[in-house]
Parts: sequence; C-alpha cells; structure tokens
Amino acid sequence: MDPADIVVFGGTGDLAMRKLLPALYLRDRDGQLAEGTRIVAVSRSGLDDADYRDKVDSELRRVVPRWAGADVLADDAAHTRFLQRLDHVTLDVFDDDWSALSGLLGRAAEDGARTRVLYLASAPQLFGRICVGSARAGIVDERTRVVLEKPLGHDLASAREINDEVGSVFAEEQIYRIDHYLGKETVQNLLVLRFGNSLFEPLWNASQIDHVQITVSESIGCGNRADYYDGSGALRDMVQNHLLQLLCLVAMEPPAKIDGEGVRDEKLKVLQSLKPLDGPDVIRDTVRGQYTEGLVDGAAVPGYATELAEARAGTPRERERPSTETFVALRAEVANWRWAGVPFYLRTGKRLATHASEIVVQFKPVPHSIFPAFGEEIPANRLVLRLQPDEGVRLHMTAKQPGPGGIRPIPAPLDLSFARTFGDRLPDAYERLLMDVLRGNPTLFMRRDEIEAAWTWAEPILRTWEATDQRPRPYAAGSTGPAAATALIERDGRAWHEDY
Ligand code: BG6
Repeated sequence: MDPADIVVFGGTGDLAMRKLLPALYLRDRDGQLAEGTRIVAVSRSGLDDADYRDKVDSELRRVVPRWAGADVLADDAAHTRFLQRLDHVTLDVFDDDWSALSGLLGRAAEDGARTRVLYLASAPQLFGRICVGSARAGIVDERTRVVLEKPLGHDLASAREINDEVGSVFAEEQIYRIDHYLGKETVQNLLVLRFGNSLFEPLWNASQIDHVQITVSESIGCGNRADYYDGSGALRDMVQNHLLQLLCLVAMEPPAKIDGEGVRDEKLKVLQSLKPLDGPDVIRDTVRGQYTEGLVDGAAVPGYATELAEARAGTPRERERPSTETFVALRAEVANWRWAGVPFYLRTGKRLATHASEIVVQFKPVPHSIFPAFGEEIPANRLVLRLQPDEGVRLHMTAKQPGPGGIRPIPAPLDLSFARTFGDRLPDAYERLLMDVLRGNPTLFMRRDEIEAAWTWAEPILRTWEATDQRPRPYAAGSTGPAAATALIERDGRAWHEDY
C-alpha cells in the first residue's frame, strides 16, 4: 500500500480513542501501515502534538491489552513509531481558515503518491460542513476517500440530505459508509460458510428452512449515552443498520463475484424485497420495550428513565417520561422466490440477561419419524452462527445415543469454535475496515442505495409507533425482554433460541 494520510475529524472523541486509534496501532504493529503514513487528528481541543500523543498513549494502554493481550504494548519500537505518526490540528470546522490542516497535508503530498482518507468520526450534522470545508481548503481530489460513521440520518429524508451533501463533494466510489458489524470476523464468515461449502446452498430456501432468528442481545445499558440514545432508540440504532445487514447476508443470492458491486447489488435486492410493515402489521409484528431497574450479573442497575433523568439533571427535560425503545423484536419477511413464507424474527435490546449475538437458521423437521420410541419429537436441525462472544458455528444434529439397548435418537451438536480451531485472536471490526479503506476495497461498506432502502423499510414502523402512541413495554434489566416478545414468536408456534 502507498503511504497514507489518515485525517480523523473528531480526533479526540470516543470513537477515535476507543476504536480507531487502537485498531490503527495494531495494524501498524503487524507492519500493515506503509512507512511515512501519518494520522492527523482534527478537533477543537487546542491540544498540541505532544499532548495528543500522551492522550492516545494512555488510551492505548487501557484498550489494547484487552483486545490483544497484556504484553502487546511491551513492543516499544512499534509503540513509539505509532505515536510518532500522530499529529493534532486544532480546528473549528465552521471557521474559514483551514490553513493549518491544508498546510500540513500539502507538505506531506510533496513527498509523492499518498492515499488520503478523511475519517468523519464526528456528529453527522457536521458531515456536510466537513466535506465542503475540505474541498474549499483544497485537501480533496478524485483519489481522496471519505469514511462516514453511523448514524446516517434518523429517517429517509435526513439520510438523503446527508448523502446529498457528501455527494456534492465526493463521488459514490470515494465514500465508505461504515457498519461495523460487517467488519466482524463471524459476519464475514457467513459469506464463506454459505458460498464456500456446497452443503448448505441446496437447503437454503423456503422448502427446507422453517424460519430464521437474528438476536443481538447486550447486557450493557445506555448509561451516559442515554441522552444521545433518546433521540434514536433500538430500531434506528441497531435494526435499521446492523440487524438488517445480517439479514441481508443470510438471505442474499450468491453474488457473481465477491467484490463491492457484486455483494452490494445482492444485499440491495434483499432490502428491496422486505415485505413492508405498515399500519396494523406494525402493531401485530413488532414489540418495543424499555428496561426498568433490575439485576445484571448480580449487580443492581437503574432503569433507562432514571439514567436519562441523571444525564439531563438540571435541564427542563429532566422529568420527561421517555418513550424511546431500548428493545425491539419483530417479524419480517423477505418476499421473493427463495424466502416466500419464511419468517425472519429479529430481536435486539440493552440490559438483557446476556451479552450474545447469533443467527439461528432453523430447518424443517424430518417429514416422518421412524423412531417410534422418540415419538414426534425428533428435533429439527438448526444452524447457529455465534457472532459474539465464543465466536463459532454450531450445527445441531440428531445422533444415536450410544448403548446396547435399542435406538434412541438424541440431539448432538457439530461444533466449530473459532478460538479452538484457529487459535489466533480475532481482529476487531475496525482493524479490518480501516485496512479495507486504505486498500480501496468497498465490499464491506454500505452503498447509498442500501442505506436508503433500509430506511424505506424502517420508516413506516417508526411512523406507526408514533401515530398510534405505542409506548415501549417495560422489562426488568437482566431479563430476556418484554413478555410480548415471547408471545410474538410463540403465536407462530415457535420459540426464541436461548442456549447456544
Ligand atoms: C453501535 C450502537 O452501533 O453498536 C451501540 O450504536 C451498540 O448502541 C453497538 O452498543 C454494539 O456493537 P458491538 O460491536 O458491541 O456488538
């Protein structure tokens, strides 16, 4: 790869500190950043380069051992080299004078071919301003790449507005929209599992699959993000992007090639095939929830309303009763030939009993049991892709219980644990995605039409909730969510998969 200038707007923010810089450090440590690569953090903080390097250093010491093991930062040469790549520029993006930034980048450009990446780790309301300001400051050309973080809008119109503003400066091929779920190893593995094995494809359709479940369950609460989260909610924060992307990878047709357009064209078709949920369907097929106080991992935790009131202490909105959902369960359908009639149950929430994300593909039962002792109960096969933690794939089969006395079929799993099989640590999603930006590979990033198709499906749900005043149902922190979510799937004679 050519040396790069990676400009991080929002360079002192939470995302930069907790994710981007640790990820870049680990890639640098493995020799993946070319010599001469620089990371230029932009913020209003007034820090000089030395202060900024100190700040990053202490954050690396906090985060990197958790990601990669306690002794990683002991590699002093890589650590020092990384800190020396960092510069800090103080800039209010609404000011007219960007000469400190353009001067710094201009001097670097004199050294020859360089890739320039503008990473917008800032509030989305600033995206347009940063793009236009960068163009005016002369730091954008047709080779510059821009990376956008979610949330990309809060509905279709606002997503279009952001896309238009960014698109007024950058062509679509220069824009990398992050959904960090696509950077997760296990999510990419779904592509390989489906299209690298001949075993599954003939079964991967409505004639053999009973239903699909996608669960992203978090035990953390909203905490000090409560105020931000209140303008969002679980449907916007998780379903419209992460869960729909997972659904796309499960449901899409085999792409002609594993490249940017091939994969994204197929995902788009899935999003466009989602059966619209509107009006009475929304009331029937979706459940909103909000956590109240409870016990998580043995510790008492406050409810969302209390967290929000604390976050807003002293403001006029302190006592407002929040109507934001911290949990969503819903029943979706992909209306096409492959999936007609197969429900996709999606569920996500905060402050649930477990931190666990998985995709469950439930096959149909055998058409007839020849094992009378087992009655009707031969469990149907089930493929579980565990996204986190304990990443792996488990295929639930039926086997004969060993023993001399007759044939007794029992459930038994075929188990592919990534940790046991591959040993190495799995890189964080940002390590993979940042390298893809530098390589110019857009496959794991969202195209404009995908984002807009996802909003087109999600927006009527939000609209109906608002129009019919569907308040979220309370659930105790540390539980599995509101009882109505259990009823949603049991109504169809099915149940949520609770054990891996
Ligand atoms: C983010 C959401 O996109 O994803 C957060 O804004 C959520 O609310 C997070 O906690 C979950 O990501 P992960 O990688 O921890 O599963």
